[in-house]
Amino acid sequence: MLEVIQLTKHFTQGLLTKKTTYAVQDVSFQVPPGKTLGIMGTSGSGKSTVARLIAGLIRPTAGQIVYQGTALTNLSATQRQPFRRKLQMVFQHPGLALDPRQTIADALLEPLYVHKLIHSQRQGLNKLESLLHITQLSPDVLQKYPWQISGGQAQRIVIARALGLEPEVLIADEPTAMLDISVQAQILTLLKTIQQQTGLSLILISHDPDVIKACADHMISMMNGKVAASGVPSKILTQSDSLFSLRQAMLTQRKGEI
Ligand SMILES: Nc1ncnc2c1ncn2[C@@H]1O[C@H](COP(=O)(O)OP(=O)(O)O)[C@@H](O)[C@H]1O
Ligand SMILES: [Mg+2]
Repeated sequence: MLEVIQLTKHFTQGLLTKKTTYAVQDVSFQVPPGKTLGIMGTSGSGKSTVARLIAGLIRPTAGQIVYQGTALTNLSATQRQPFRRKLQMVFQHPGLALDPRQTIADALLEPLYVHKLIHSQRQGLNKLESLLHITQLSPDVLQKYPWQISGGQAQRIVIARALGLEPEVLIADEPTAMLDISVQAQILTLLKTIQQQTGLSLILISHDPDVIKACADHMISMMNGKVAASGVPSKILTQSDSLFSLRQAMLTQRKGEI
């Protein structure tokens, strides 16, 4: 379905100093249809950059993104357009993703018109109904503005808006990081349910091992832009946990020596 091969992104900043950040280096993984790939890593390890590269928001320095046999990286912006809809992204801050001047109904309808998926008001209403149903939202949110709804509702709306475009891959970048614990679990359960209903592939980014363990079929962990480990979460996470305790033990020992 989706294959990422040696994906690399360097950012160069500063006109005089030309400081280069090696945000993503040689990252490779596959996401099979209907499965969830977890990406774990500390802040600054390159997770969001991988997400933005796959969603086509930025171009890679090197490497390839192959979607259903098509190498996306070689395509021009126009050639890439039809694929954009198939790879949708949900961000960490649902509040920022919604325009405060737009009602929820308009926020949901706009991308559908842009991508010409609806052609009449009736089609629009039908689509809204099914999107609210799948994200378990009540119809009274439609007339509200983003600042009148809760964080959990906003994240459901953002998910609904992405799903409206009928993507085959949904990239969720820390989708629950800004939410209360109880709401976090609801959103993750919702994503899982949607995946079961639609056969969607998910890329779930989180710094939380428990989230990855609960949701991902396969995972990579990132460190300084590189893949540090890759495999089944239950195995990787025990491995990295033991690596962590090994390091702690070494630090304690060194302190003893001093
Ligand atoms: N547009 C950008 N310009 C310069 N540096 C960036 C840009 N985006 C990300 N970076 C840098 O790339 C590294 C990885 O960032 P990011 O992918 O956001 O990490 P994560 O999502 O894992 O916290 C960080 O050092 C960050 O400062
Ligand atoms: Mg990030």
